[in-house]
Amino acid sequence: MNLLLENKINTELCKIFNKLKLDDRFAFVKVSDRPDLSDFQCNGALALAKITHKNPREIGTMIAEELQKCTFCESISVDGPGFINLKLKDDVIAQNADAMADDERLGCGMVEDPHKVVLDYGGPNVAKTMHVGHLRSGVIGESVSRIERFVGNDVISDVHLGDWGTPMGMIISEIIMQDGSLDKVYDYDIAQITEFYKQANIRCKDDENARENARQITAKLQEGNTQYRRAWEHLRNESLKAIKANYEQLDVNFDLWWGESDAHQVCGEVVRIARENDISEVDNGATIIRLEESNKPKPPVIIVKSDGAFGYQLTDIATIKMRVEDLHAQEIVYFTDSRQTLHFEQVFEAVQKLGIAPNVKLQHIVFGTVNGADGKPFKTRDGGVMDLETLIAMSKEKVSQSLPKPNEVEGYGTAEIEKLTQQIAIAAIKFQDLKNTIASGYVFELDDFAKFEGKTGPYIQYAVARINSVLRKAAASGLQTGNIVLQAPEERSLALKLAQVHNVVMRAHTDKEPSIIAEYTYNLAQTFSTFYNACPMMNANNQELVSSRLKLAKLTRDILKLMLYLLGIEAPEVMLKAENK
Ligand code: ARG
Repeated sequence: MNLLLENKINTELCKIFNKLKLDDRFAFVKVSDRPDLSDFQCNGALALAKITHKNPREIGTMIAEELQKCTFCESISVDGPGFINLKLKDDVIAQNADAMADDERLGCGMVEDPHKVVLDYGGPNVAKTMHVGHLRSGVIGESVSRIERFVGNDVISDVHLGDWGTPMGMIISEIIMQDGSLDKVYDYDIAQITEFYKQANIRCKDDENARENARQITAKLQEGNTQYRRAWEHLRNESLKAIKANYEQLDVNFDLWWGESDAHQVCGEVVRIARENDISEVDNGATIIRLEESNKPKPPVIIVKSDGAFGYQLTDIATIKMRVEDLHAQEIVYFTDSRQTLHFEQVFEAVQKLGIAPNVKLQHIVFGTVNGADGKPFKTRDGGVMDLETLIAMSKEKVSQSLPKPNEVEGYGTAEIEKLTQQIAIAAIKFQDLKNTIASGYVFELDDFAKFEGKTGPYIQYAVARINSVLRKAAASGLQTGNIVLQAPEERSLALKLAQVHNVVMRAHTDKEPSIIAEYTYNLAQTFSTFYNACPMMNANNQELVSSRLKLAKLTRDILKLMLYLLGIEAPEVMLKAENK
């Protein structure tokens, strides 16, 4: 159920606009910019005045006079050039909060036209260590996946493992070069495999023969050469184990663990469609699809290279075909940094020419990079690439400085402290990322990101745990929650803030922008903190107030937990703090 306070006012406004013969597209309110003056404001009179060339204040006054007759407003005024400011009656806000608390979706509605969305937010590569560059796509994608499911869409997330391009030939060729054969390959673990790949890169950089060799092996692997296939399977499996462990730590999940290689069969079909329909042409031995020059000149898509190997773009085109035909995707969304912008423009245009995804919305969401204090991509202290494991270890180290040592607190041995450290460390990393809009990059705040105060994940987790503790104590004293009554201004502000949740989630869904939820979550935690300091809960003046405040606290806790969930962050029942902190 969508329990938005605005709905009530908007319905009334619509009636009034119709009665006054005003265009009801402008009959809506938004949360007030001046909460000290009003709860909501309608700027419709200004918009109407522009169109009709009438005086906005006069239109505003006309609407306000009608609004006076409705039962749910405490006060209505027309201010400035014609803003209509509304303050709701306390019991209207209180009843709405009660209804939210009784609703299993806490007042959040769902989309009217649920559809199937495939989310592509993985893209790690075989034989390459996952690093900070993979962080944002996983963290943002996981959150968007949870938001989309929550609003009712049917989501399939796919990791789209990079397991099929020239790097595969490079590493196989490097192993053969060093070992003389592929016999030992099956003993190699991920560390050794990554090392071979690094050496392959160095070798291929200035050795054309090595590059040519790698290209030929890639082509043979793709054609199905059994010896290469077997070796490749081992390399892929070992990499996948390491990749899964990384994602598990980050609590980033996928429904499908398909790779580029899974699209191989369909790649052949796409090439056939392109050739049969004269969409492709042969250019210097390669098969290419030329793109329209009109909107923005783009290089052609090389679907088959001159040596017969399938390229990265073809795998993405074929994967779209599979997602549409096998998964029935109606929308496909990709999350990568800006280096792939051209790639996806080319892929989407080629898909359109090939006609393989009619009526499917294809979207590429580009995120900014995670930078160090110097504004360049975030590195380790010695200037190396920051791999994900190092980053997580660093965050855990920071968090453990704020937590007691094992067995310092009863019931918290090594395992419990380790689990808590992990939950907080991941929250610190994820929230620092998700509080920024997707498009902007951010500087990794080495000092503050894991603190228990400020705009951090641990701060929100702490707010939840603090409410948990109050509710536990209240339950132990036999205190119950009861209907919400609003007396203090801090109670009123909190109830109004809670009532925004539906809109916040819907905006995050429409814009595919988890930062909207992160921002709200932080503001809600702060609003609660103000309420907590001003309004005693268990020692309130009378029983009615105690029960009401407990219910407001519980609703806040549930909404904070839901928001954290949508961000992909866990909410531990209890947060501990080291004695000296
Ligand atoms: N594996 C690719 C890379 O590391 C990223 C894949 C992004 N997703 C996709 N469907 N192309 O560059």
